[in-house]
Amino acid sequence: MKVLVVGSGGREHALLLALARSPQRPTLLCAPGNAGTAPLARNVPIAADDIDGLVGLAQSEAVDLVVVGPEVPLVLGLADRLREAGIATFGPDARGARIEGSKAYANTLMDRAGVPTARSRTFEAGDAEAARGYVEAHALPVVLKADGLAAGKGVVIAESTPEALSALDDMLGGQFGEAGATVVIEDFLEGEEASVFAVTDGEAVVFLATAQDHKRIGEGDTGPNTGGMGAYAPAPAVTPETLEQVRERIVQPVLKALRDEGADYRGVLFCGLMLTDSGPQVIEFNCRFGDPETQVILPLLDSDPLDLLWRAATHTLAGAEVAISPEAAACVVLASAGYPGSYEKGKPIDGLDDASGVATVIHAGTRREGDEVVTNGGRVLGVVGRGATLVQALGAAYEGVDLMTFEGKTFRRDIGRRGLAHVVDP
Ligand SMILES: Nc1ncnc2c1ncn2[C@@H]1O[C@H](COP(=O)(O)OP(=O)(O)O)[C@@H](O)[C@H]1O
Ligand SMILES: [Mg+2]
Repeated sequence: MKVLVVGSGGREHALLLALARSPQRPTLLCAPGNAGTAPLARNVPIAADDIDGLVGLAQSEAVDLVVVGPEVPLVLGLADRLREAGIATFGPDARGARIEGSKAYANTLMDRAGVPTARSRTFEAGDAEAARGYVEAHALPVVLKADGLAAGKGVVIAESTPEALSALDDMLGGQFGEAGATVVIEDFLEGEEASVFAVTDGEAVVFLATAQDHKRIGEGDTGPNTGGMGAYAPAPAVTPETLEQVRERIVQPVLKALRDEGADYRGVLFCGLMLTDSGPQVIEFNCRFGDPETQVILPLLDSDPLDLLWRAATHTLAGAEVAISPEAAACVVLASAGYPGSYEKGKPIDGLDDASGVATVIHAGTRREGDEVVTNGGRVLGVVGRGATLVQALGAAYEGVDLMTFEGKTFRRDIGRRGLAHVVDP
């Protein structure tokens, strides 16, 4: 079987590592990939948002399955085009991907399906006065979200009314371009956050390990939001009972609503949840695997990863045998100094081989330069440890972290802290 993975980050490296251990021994391609994907797959220099280029590649290479990593090509209709060309694709069509591409749409869908989520209202740029009035009367904190894709930078949790009004003006005034021309204003949910990954062919559902990620750059969840500075799995806060509630109250009704809309949803329905006193509530949906959560949930998939993705892509998921390991995994992200603001690239990385002896080193933003691997992004590497317990997984990850150096290496020492708080240590 020939499989093309679309994307260039740590998530795609983790997907390729999972596919490479399939007993089906697939031939792997990656577009465009990075220095970490090159030993596993043939990297083809086609950008993840070059829809025509990717469809052409899949056709000329007679690829059997395309696995789409990032959200942008899905929102642009890559899966629609590939399926039209007769190529099995893991990823929803453009209609389905709107569940991530438009937060207002996701809320409408949830309202219709009766899915528990924060109370919200949506305002267009033309409704600025009404939006201001709504914000002024709203309890604090209040949550403001740019409707469209904003690469994790489109949400403001305002603690005061002046702060909320100024965020509202920025969004409606074009800070996020089209993505912020529509603004969603939500009630603030209290609780612990967790991520649930439902693999689906549109009807049947398989849950992977649950996870928690760390979005802020600074320890103790301080400083600006990033793409994610680390993650661990499973999330002890999500009990088996909670997962059943997520299946019945959230995933199944949303998939039904998507089918009613005519969406062809095959892939991952990522549920960002707040575990509140009244049960799990949806913060948002993503239409693809999370990054860096993928780096910790795929190593815990004991059954054949290719079989799972193939069944979801070909609508044959019902009855699939999926085995999730009872172990734990943790990922610590190494970033460039200055990230998520501006940062320098091209810093040589030392210790990759040593670190690979104790942990799995995932490449996110790297590039090969002659004999060296150099930094090539804000998030540079993810170091994944695995063990019988979260403590052991974290130990392995940090051992790997300490074996690698590059100028400006920036990371958090407190990954997994919330998970450890659930561990009863006599
Ligand atoms: N209604 C809410 N109540 C409390 N916190 C929220 C709410 N909505 C979002 N957040 C916080 O903001 C973060 C980002 O919001 P999210 O909807 O996931 O947007 P995105 O991932 O697109 O930036 C969430 O991970 C959560 O911590
Ligand atoms: Mg989010």
